[in-house]
Amino acid sequence: MTKYILLAVILGSVAWAAGLVGLPKSILGFEKWTVVAKNLETGGAHAGQNKQVFANKIAAGAWKKTGKLPIGSLIVKTGGKVSSPTFVATMEKRSSGWYYEEYFPRNGKYVLVYGGPNGQALCKDCHAGGTDELFTRP
Ligand code: HEC
Repeated sequence: MTKYILLAVILGSVAWAAGLVGLPKSILGFEKWTVVAKNLETGGAHAGQNKQVFANKIAAGAWKKTGKLPIGSLIVKTGGKVSSPTFVATMEKRSSGWYYEEYFPRNGKYVLVYGGPNGQALCKDCHAGGTDELFTRP
């Protein structure tokens, strides 16, 4: 019996992971991170409905206290349903500064469309207007 329950749990998590296939490993499980903002309906670069912003452990505490985030901080923003987002935008604080990526679902998996190795300026130029390049406040 326990064996079957275990199997069901494993198959269940494989199915879940397949829904978000293509996203970087570093952000998997983000829906359990600290929710910084819910149901944002802002327009602009990330126009869309029902946007949510998540912060990993490293980011969550520091953000509230100082507004500046240490290296290793990860911020994830999704549009639409968190289980099958219409886009996934990420910001990672590296020693060289914030690193940006934005993924969209294409034929059953998420692919990097904006940001990434050749697209930092697009994101960074606009985010330069934020505090430590961030807009959403907890
Ligand atoms: C034209 C301006 C503009 C550009 C270009 C832009 N952003 Fe943003 N971004 C915003 C604004 C404004 C917000 C806050 C409002 C919102 O979430 O809609 C935001 C919010 C975010 C957030 C949530 C954390 C925060 O700062 O509030 C992430 C993550 C993010 N953007 C990633 C990206 C990535 C990745 C790119 C490039 C692919 C990008 N952004 C390009 C304006 C921009």
